[in-house]
Amino acid sequence: MLGNFTYQNPTKLIFGADAMDMLVDELKQYGPVVQLVYGGGSIKRNGIYDQVMAALEAAGKTVVEDGGVMPNPTVEKLYEGVKIARENHVDFILAVGGGSCIDYAKGVAVSVNLPEDVDPWQKYWVDFDEPTCPVVPVGSVLTMVGTGSEMNCGSVITNHEAKMKVGHVFANPDVFPKFAVLNPEFTYTLPRYQMVAGIFDIMNHITEQYFSGEDDNTSDYLSEGLMRSLVHASRIAVENPEDYEARSNIMWCATWALNTLVACGKTTDWEVHMLGQAVGAHTDATHGMTLAAVALPYYRLVMPYGLAKFARFATAVWGVEAAGKTEEELAAAGLDAMEAWMREIGCVMSISELGATEDMLEALADSTLVMEGGYHALTRDEIIRVFEESL
Ligand code: NZQ
Ligand code: ZN
Repeated sequence: MLGNFTYQNPTKLIFGADAMDMLVDELKQYGPVVQLVYGGGSIKRNGIYDQVMAALEAAGKTVVEDGGVMPNPTVEKLYEGVKIARENHVDFILAVGGGSCIDYAKGVAVSVNLPEDVDPWQKYWVDFDEPTCPVVPVGSVLTMVGTGSEMNCGSVITNHEAKMKVGHVFANPDVFPKFAVLNPEFTYTLPRYQMVAGIFDIMNHITEQYFSGEDDNTSDYLSEGLMRSLVHASRIAVENPEDYEARSNIMWCATWALNTLVACGKTTDWEVHMLGQAVGAHTDATHGMTLAAVALPYYRLVMPYGLAKFARFATAVWGVEAAGKTEEELAAAGLDAMEAWMREIGCVMSISELGATEDMLEALADSTLVMEGGYHALTRDEIIRVFEESL
């Protein structure tokens, strides 16, 4: 049965090859001082930085630069960003990049107006508290597709000292970006590895929400459509990264995969993300690839507990012929089809390729949170087994 839910998504999406034309008008709606958040420099090489600076100038903004946001943004960088925001009394934060820049911008936004003696990491990523202060508005220009951060209220921060990579999904509409500029052409310069990581991140966001519950739920049918579109477009994009149609469909899938729509009325799992984030906390590997490395051993382990849904996944998403197969054979064939697709597009299939080693298994398990919403809550031994099988 469809559970009760509230759906609200305040982010204004501006999509298409001309999307940047709208940036000036959007910026004009906010105060004069803008903290410009970006990563390690890709936007300077591909010209996006110049386009953004031109829009900021046309909107009459004072720009405070805050570059150098690393993939998997750290708590130390977050503290630095909060300091920059406080010293410059910023009115708005514009994140230009992928999930790392947008998550970081949200992290700064919820922290700037906290009393100085309150530690944002402790408050938001350990205690999962909600903002008790005004949140600085955030906007984004997306350059890397996958996380859905452009239209959600999640923020993932890594604390290497504590060996924790933690996502907080804020229950506050102010944390959603006010707007997101999505030009599929901006993703053409992504290295193939990042493109593929993003594609698998999208697939896994959908399966995390799909592989849970046994009810008949419209959200699951939406998920199946998104997965079919993603698989189709991904095959085209890996052959021709500048295929606008494929890149734009992947971009659109990513946003819908994680803006709470396909979770409406459902239980959800998220254990693959917990396993992947543990790998990320220890290796700093690319997010989507950490998921790819652990997903199949995990799904094969939990498949018997959710057989009917795994069988449905095989036929509805992968077109596996059901005739002549037991439910178990059908379910297994669906995961085999996903594996073949993952290999075809170039996913990383083991955590050892990401720098994890056998002697890290216990520590990886220590960093893994256990979720209750999927078909089976993992025991510690099972967590170790998943990591072992991913080596
Ligand atoms: O730093 P620069 O130089 O910009 O390079 C980036 C970075 O190295 C590069 N890149 C981005 N756009 C590019 C480009 N290179 C060339 N051309 C372009 N157009 O790509 C690399 C990866 O960028 P990053 O932002 O780190 O990737 P992604 O979007 O996958 O974000 C990953 C972070 O988001 C979190 C992850 O855990 C990770 O910390 N997530 C956030 C979620 C959310 N907010 O809801 C959910 C996700 O599950 C995920 O956990
Ligand atoms: Zn993800």
